[in-house]
Amino acid sequence: MGRARMTWIGTSWKMNKTLAEARAFADGLVAARGAFDGVTAFVIPAHTAIAAVRERLPPDVPVLIGAQNAHWAPAGAYTGEVSMGMVADAGATLVEIGHSERREHFGETDDTVALKVEAAVAAGLTPLLCVGEPGAVRAAGREIDWVAGQVTRGLSRLAAGDLHEVVVAYEPVWAIGERGREPVTYEIAPVMETLSTGFGVRAVLYGGSVNRRNAAALLDVPGIDGLFVGRAAWDVADFLALVRIAAAGRHVGRPDAR
Ligand code: PGA
Repeated sequence: MGRARMTWIGTSWKMNKTLAEARAFADGLVAARGAFDGVTAFVIPAHTAIAAVRERLPPDVPVLIGAQNAHWAPAGAYTGEVSMGMVADAGATLVEIGHSERREHFGETDDTVALKVEAAVAAGLTPLLCVGEPGAVRAAGREIDWVAGQVTRGLSRLAAGDLHEVVVAYEPVWAIGERGREPVTYEIAPVMETLSTGFGVRAVLYGGSVNRRNAAALLDVPGIDGLFVGRAAWDVADFLALVRIAAAGRHVGRPDAR
């Protein structure tokens, strides 16, 4: 057994929150600054709010900030895009790459994902590589091959020595968002086992319809290092409730302090 591992709890706000709302969320984190023991917490605002959240969080509040996307090129004629260096400059240390909504609505492919993963590491950012199978792939029983393929291709431009910089989020498309369905733990356990043993990445998170009721059971699935949450964490009290569930599980539910 090595060093005790941290449990990750993070949220992407997607296309939500004004600056005032983002700052209010940050203020809630500051007020709960003692709650993060054993937890690697992160929030991923829209690009417009990254700097405001960074400025609102003093250095002793251990919450990482991410970006929901960034381009792979360091600069250039890419109207509407921001670079890895720009989001790092604004205060992000993580960058979400390849979320299923980006793949579905904005044409992200495994090729652009791989370019972004490479660029993120080059910029000193932690890539949060999102993968997950659509419902039809799950229905055909092909989810493990699908997800392993996405990860393999997403990591394909990295040197072996950089794989440990990457955090993978397994987010089955059928589980995400308003139309999503909560998973049963046995549905995701085989995928988590593949991801946590096969790729040498730093951590593997689960995302898709996570909430306060199912969080503890999901965190107990072998191979899961944490949870990546949307709707059920957009209110700071709800986010902190999930942080507390993760912190408590380290001491009582999971003696290996995974
Ligand atoms: P959800 O979103 O928790 O609202 O299902 C998850 C995600 O998209 O990461």
